[in-house]
Amino acid sequence: MQRASSSVPVRIVVYIFSIALVAAVLGTWLYLTGPKEHGYTWLDVAFWVGLVAWSTRIAVALPFNATMSHLYVIILGAVILFPPWLAMVIVALGYFSPRLGKEAWYKDLFNRAQNTLVTGIATLTWYYLTKVAPVSMGHLNISVGVAIIASSLALFLTNISLVSYVIHLASGAPLRKVWVDNFRWLSMSYFVLAPIGLFMARAYQTPLVGGWGGFSVLFILMLLYYSRFYWDERVKLQEALDSTIEVLVKALDAKDPHTRLHSERVAAISKDLAKAAGLDESDQRKIEYGARIHDIGKVSIPDSILLKPGRLTEEEFNQIKLHPTEGIKLLQPAQRYMRDVLPIIRHHHERWDGRGYPDGLAGQETHLWARIVALGDAYEAMTAGRPYVKAKTPEEALREILDLSGSQFDPKLAKLFQELWSQDPLWKDREVFLRASTSQAPSSDSSAPSSPAPAYRTSEELN
Ligand SMILES: [Fe+2]
Repeated sequence: MQRASSSVPVRIVVYIFSIALVAAVLGTWLYLTGPKEHGYTWLDVAFWVGLVAWSTRIAVALPFNATMSHLYVIILGAVILFPPWLAMVIVALGYFSPRLGKEAWYKDLFNRAQNTLVTGIATLTWYYLTKVAPVSMGHLNISVGVAIIASSLALFLTNISLVSYVIHLASGAPLRKVWVDNFRWLSMSYFVLAPIGLFMARAYQTPLVGGWGGFSVLFILMLLYYSRFYWDERVKLQEALDSTIEVLVKALDAKDPHTRLHSERVAAISKDLAKAAGLDESDQRKIEYGARIHDIGKVSIPDSILLKPGRLTEEEFNQIKLHPTEGIKLLQPAQRYMRDVLPIIRHHHERWDGRGYPDGLAGQETHLWARIVALGDAYEAMTAGRPYVKAKTPEEALREILDLSGSQFDPKLAKLFQELWSQDPLWKDREVFLRASTSQAPSSDSSAPSSPAPAYRTSEELN
């Protein structure tokens, strides 16, 4: 997403300068009207500026092209230790874009300004709840607990809002989508890190070694630094798993020219159908992923049956019918990571009337996600044809789906499918879909299961 600075849209430049201006005004106002004494030397301040600079260099990879730095913990430490204006100065001076030099100036300015602004807001929250209006419960002073929760919440919400909006401006993606795609699950990490920020500030105030709290802080940072390896490994593991499964799916698709890009098309149909059925983005993404791998169990079926040019005997068909359960067996070792999509793999050949396989589930006994993929799978198979069955036209396939509504397919889904179909989606015609998929080659090789997200980095910064 590198862009020459000359091509930055004006609205983004205006937005970034507005944030910088608000941060500067807030900092100046806090300096002029708020407390100035802090009891620290300029060496302490320099140490915290250094910590901010260090934390921005240590990025932890997260799935879907996201990264998270330890900046947040350091900012919270500064929020607790210093008066609001000084905490803002520390962040403004210490923030250096992780890829400084390679990045456009406006990204650095945005990250610096927004991190400074959120620091001001979080520090004000902290200051108000601990100094101006302490909170107590009976005799118990619970200010610190309430203040850490409130200031991390203020920090988190402001940060997320500012970053979501600039991504929305830059990419045109709907705000809600940006939020769901990149940030929702990060909130947990933020609240886990909040107590560490508090702990670090307290450690700085009570030196254990050498009369200086910095040593205690460095010790905590060492632990934090090592925790990133855990996260890195976890993310790498997930990516390795996704790639392995992707390879299996591609191998399966490659075996049979008639089913080329079958999984991709079923995935595209299923995702649209899931959206039409009112499922949220996260579910749509899982369904899309499940649809990509729904036939994974077919790798266990002998080629002589899978690729047989003529009609299958009953015995051969019984073998084919094992592929849903074979798929579950195949994914058994990775079950922990695949739990959500297993019902799709097991039940995508169940029928609404209960005459499907492998479990003969009827109606809503079959997981909704599996019913969605079953419909997508059937439409794709009908329009693809087999060596011994002529491919149906999109119109014929739609008619068949409507005819089988209530017997093979969930009637509600069949109706939704008809509505989608009449909007002329890319997947409606197989040839059109294949042509479009083949022409956007390299990007479709991504190992990410379904991330349509552009390659911007997320978390507390725009990169
Ligand atoms: Fe299947």
